[in-house]
Amino acid sequence: MLTLTAMRTQIGIIGAGPAGLFLSHLLARIGIECVILEHRSREEIEGTIRAGVLEDWVTHLMDELGLAERLKREGRPDTGVTFQFSNRRHHIDFIELTGKQITVYAQHEVIKDLVAARLHSGGPIVFSISDVALKGIDSETPAIAYRDSGGAAQELRCDFIVGCDGFHGPSRQAIPPDKRVEHDMVYPFGWLGILAEAPRSWHELIYSNHERGFALLSTRSPQVQRIYIQCDPHDDIAVWPDDRIWAEMQARFAFDGWKLAEGRIFQKNIVGLRSFVCDTMRYGRLFLAGDAAHIVPPTGAKGMNLAVADVVFLSRALDAWYKKGNRDGLERYPETCLRRVWKAERFSWYMTTMLHRNDAESSFERQIHLADLDHVVSSRAAATALAEVYVGLPIDP
Ligand code: FAD
Ligand code: PHB
Repeated sequence: MLTLTAMRTQIGIIGAGPAGLFLSHLLARIGIECVILEHRSREEIEGTIRAGVLEDWVTHLMDELGLAERLKREGRPDTGVTFQFSNRRHHIDFIELTGKQITVYAQHEVIKDLVAARLHSGGPIVFSISDVALKGIDSETPAIAYRDSGGAAQELRCDFIVGCDGFHGPSRQAIPPDKRVEHDMVYPFGWLGILAEAPRSWHELIYSNHERGFALLSTRSPQVQRIYIQCDPHDDIAVWPDDRIWAEMQARFAFDGWKLAEGRIFQKNIVGLRSFVCDTMRYGRLFLAGDAAHIVPPTGAKGMNLAVADVVFLSRALDAWYKKGNRDGLERYPETCLRRVWKAERFSWYMTTMLHRNDAESSFERQIHLADLDHVVSSRAAATALAEVYVGLPIDP
């Protein structure tokens, strides 16, 4: 006989990535209950290596939510970035151009901080669940059916479901295909990312446009560096032994009188680059947030920040609904998010096409990208336009 245990909450959240976890903290601040259902274990989500750059307002938000203690100690505030091309390096000074900065702090550290604080305050996160199915999303009584870590059937009944389950999660797929409006673009390149035990080689991020392909130097701590190089997205990681990776990195960051510090590589992987937007961010009582609704190539460092922006807008709309019965914000949620999403999509596409080598492009197009870079580093107006999006567009209405 099938036994089913049912639980009830106000907001059922699927996915404990940045979108789901930030949403849980934002809702707790305004007295709205929620439960997060996550299909991986706590160890897995805390060990997945991804983003590294927090926009200025995200750092302030973490502080306001009381989540920034370790970030303040271990994050690296960066006042600008370096662009390298044609054997030259140029500093873009964010503080001078915008008065704002970014913070380099790994996404999995953000996850650790948010999970610890949420569990400490008694907020439920149910890990290691499976077989998630969204039910009744176009009714007043939605629910999430799933199996708990022991395999028992469970149901979470709620007022609203928020799909924060990333690009491959089930939430977006629960919207009937004929009701979904989607835009997709896949790039013909990927990023090979490494973590290496090595000292810092440069005081800020370097974005390098090189004939051999794009390269990005980032950091995780004074002893651990995060470096990416453009590669074929279909490459097997086995064709990239450490010697080959370092040789390629040395070539793409080569600069007179300077050498990239090398060290033991202890993590490496390849990801493909894509741009994707599902305009249908709301369907009945289901809302999509973060990568579940949109993907950007990582060149603009926007993905995690965009996920946080979505849930800030959603928490404001839910606040208005629960406190004043006002449903305007919920209805306008897609429109509000998409204005920001499309600007981030444009920026990430622009950074990607400007900085990567695309063999399908003509020499004419390649020269245009170099002219674009030259414009950014020689025009205050062009540098300001780039900097204001990089540090994060305003989140307030
Ligand atoms: P996710 O982080 O994908 O979280 C989704 C969660 O849902 C996961 O924990 C997953 O396990 C869970 N889930 C999935 N399916 C189910 C299911 N069926 N049931 C329950 N749970 C489920 N962004 C930046 O802002 N700055 C950067 O510098 C940056 N650099 C990047 C570098 C790389 C190499 C990559 C790959 C990405 C980068 N990003 C960056 C993007 C960023 O990592 C993502 O945009 C971000 O993780 C999105 O957060 P999310 O919460 O929407 O989704
Ligand atoms: C990172 O540190 O992981 C990082 C930095 C900048 C990007 C993407 C990723 O554009």
